[in-house]
Amino acid sequence: MSDSNARFPTIGILGGGQLGRMTALAAIRMGIHIKTLSPSPSGSVAPLGQAVVGDWTDEAVMEAFIDGCDVITVESEWAPAEVAEKVSNGRIPVWPASSTLLTIRHKGRQKDAIQEAGIPVGAYLACSSFQEARAALTVFGGKAVAKKFEGSYDGYGNATVTSVSDLEKAWDELASNEGLLMEAFVPFVRELAVMVARRPQGESVVYPVVETEQRDHRCHAVMAPARIRPETAAAAREAALQAASAVNLVGVLGVEFFELEDGSILLNELAPRPHNTGHYTIEACFSSQFENHARSILDLPLGSPEMRTPAAVMINILGHRAGSVRTDGLVEALSHTQAGLHVYGKEEARPKRKMGHVTITGSNLDTLRAEAEAAAHAVQL
Ligand SMILES: Nc1ncnc2c1ncn2[C@@H]1O[C@H](COP(=O)(O)OP(=O)(O)O)[C@@H](O)[C@H]1O
Ligand SMILES: [Mg+2]
Repeated sequence: MSDSNARFPTIGILGGGQLGRMTALAAIRMGIHIKTLSPSPSGSVAPLGQAVVGDWTDEAVMEAFIDGCDVITVESEWAPAEVAEKVSNGRIPVWPASSTLLTIRHKGRQKDAIQEAGIPVGAYLACSSFQEARAALTVFGGKAVAKKFEGSYDGYGNATVTSVSDLEKAWDELASNEGLLMEAFVPFVRELAVMVARRPQGESVVYPVVETEQRDHRCHAVMAPARIRPETAAAAREAALQAASAVNLVGVLGVEFFELEDGSILLNELAPRPHNTGHYTIEACFSSQFENHARSILDLPLGSPEMRTPAAVMINILGHRAGSVRTDGLVEALSHTQAGLHVYGKEEARPKRKMGHVTITGSNLDTLRAEAEAAAHAVQL
């Protein structure tokens, strides 16, 4: 985008969840317009621009949607970037490109791409039959994580396997026609994550390394910056940049790592979009992951990813029950006056569904953690 353009650009987002919502909020602050397209109505993006509801696999729907957009982006690796590319036919950039999403969508192809780029990953085997998976379990010393090739997120689609009967159950639940992915169980001491923002010519910024804590394979807490050795942080940041370039990512990439006892790292997985482990950047960094997502896909100068506070903690707020969202505990949550409360505007709660989060910035991770947990726990959406 040249700076002599007479009007502010419009970003078209394929998706209607919290990532689109927070990208929209950051973009709107800079005068950038937002349109969203999603298959069903969404309370998360409805207030933020033109929220189109329609069948996004339908080329006529997509054609009408991209009209007036300066760039198209996706909120998730599952959104049909390929349909946007086809109807736009080069007129409007689509970032990340569908070729990037195609690699990342499939956990086997994704691991191959990471390994081919020379980035350390744990041992894995794409298994097309139960027999192969059973052999893999033996090769991996009897402890493995079975993963669906496609369609998994937030721990839905993974199973830890320590016996043949576990494997039978996992195979029934997770295997597709092409089988499933078996990974050696990684005895990590910590999980880490890094966000990268990358412009079309490759210019990139990399965010600090954070510690992440999963519960039931689902992100619960993020602590920034990670309490790790400088060499470990440097290796994670370097690997994240390498991964972004290996998959030709334009936009924002979330990179998850395992840290081993000796301080070395293995890359776990990539997310070609803003990521739960980067939400802390809204309060804690000069430019958030959402702001830099908007800047990078519009090929605008990237903002600084540096932290403007010594430390930050983010805690997710998950649904407690099924049904329409209520504001139970809101007053108590807001009485934690240093907490930044984010509620995603979803109309329906479900147990374990991501409904919002809390971020607190300050100087001591342990104190911040207790305060953020209390504020997040107070809200019962
Ligand atoms: N090979 C592994 N060894 C040990 N733990 C794992 C392994 N793979 C995944 N996990 C655990 O499960 C979590 C979710 O797995 P991940 O592959 O990131 O799936 P998702 O797509 O659901 O995020 C990880 O953050 C980690 O805690
Ligand atoms: Mg993950």
